[in-house]
Amino acid sequence: MTPIDKLLADNKAWAAGIKADDPEYFERLSHLQTPEFLWIGCSDSRVPADRITGTQPGEIFVHRNIANMVVHTDVNLLSVLDFAVSHLKVRHVIVCGHYGCGGIKAAMTNHDYKYVLNMWLRNIKDVYRLHSRELDAIADPEDRADRLTELNVREQVMHLAKTSIIQRAWKEEQRPRLHGWVYGLKDGLIKPVFDMDAGSKLDPIYKYDDL
Ligand code: CO
Repeated sequence: MTPIDKLLADNKAWAAGIKADDPEYFERLSHLQTPEFLWIGCSDSRVPADRITGTQPGEIFVHRNIANMVVHTDVNLLSVLDFAVSHLKVRHVIVCGHYGCGGIKAAMTNHDYKYVLNMWLRNIKDVYRLHSRELDAIADPEDRADRLTELNVREQVMHLAKTSIIQRAWKEEQRPRLHGWVYGLKDGLIKPVFDMDAGSKLDPIYKYDDL
């Protein structure tokens, strides 16, 4: 059996197992999704949003990219955010990074990863530059990467708050709450590092006053 055939066979077995437990499961879920959470996480295969939070299909709306970035020119991220916030009416948006993130580590080098990856990693280098004084003072490279991971999550949460999508929902419906988390590959535990309630203060230049 090829690895691809195995995926398909495992899918069949999974669907049969669910149906045996709960015959109406798929029929019920096919009618609507009302997730309470939007998850913006890293694409890393070791950080599956639903597995590590014990949630079921239908509970978390998910967007993943390298190093869980919120980039304001990323139409994919913005579409997911707009749909989740304005239509699905999620109550929480979670940006979840993880220690040992390859994207974070790559951005801390001076290596040329070529074209598109350089473009993406540039966004993480910008976060490093913002916090370079604190980061440069950390001698151990792994500790420095861990701290950048935390600071990056915090910056990405603040990037969410800079969008009119979030500011409009805050103004009209006092939601969603924004959360910055970091997942530990070594212990499987999530550490909350930063959050913003609806209506939190942000730098005035980013605040829309005519929404
Ligand atoms: Co990662």
